[in-house]
Amino acid sequence: MISKIVEKAINEQITKEEDSSRLYLSMASWAERNGFPGAANWLYVQAEEERVHMLKLVHYLNDREGAAIIPALEAPVSKFKSLLEVFHEVLKHEEFISASINDLFAACNKEKDFSSANYLQWYITEQIEEEHNARNILDQIKLAGTHEGGMFLMDKEFASMASAKRASLAQSGGANAVT
Ligand code: FEO
Repeated sequence: MISKIVEKAINEQITKEEDSSRLYLSMASWAERNGFPGAANWLYVQAEEERVHMLKLVHYLNDREGAAIIPALEAPVSKFKSLLEVFHEVLKHEEFISASINDLFAACNKEKDFSSANYLQWYITEQIEEEHNARNILDQIKLAGTHEGGMFLMDKEFASMASAKRASLAQSGGANAVT
């Protein structure tokens, strides 16, 4: 049985992961409409990944005899000035999620819920990768912006990163992998 404090904190994280998924979906749609099909593809896969993050927590909470509540959400931002701005926002958002996971981990430890803290280790490791990827892409976009044709080549690079990302998501079982 999970404590009410941990249940509430995990439900808040469920909201944030679902919010992340919708934010990236909105960014993907913007990129698709603005001539960045590769970046759009990457962002669509990222949106799927965030949904998996949300689902894992839903199942975990219900398995521990808590109650996972699916939240109502506000519409995500849908207008951006550039792809550079999109990825600035991606990085900022991932840093926010990392801080949130750290707070959740601390709350579980404070409640002596070491099972939940242990479960959250996966998210802590995942956030290292998420931040690294966002930083890396942001650096590449900055560099591409200084070369003629750079953004065109960057979008091709996005397409191959998206394929690798989709393959990795499928290999991990995607939404079917969550227990
Ligand atoms: Fe689920 Fe990108 O944090």
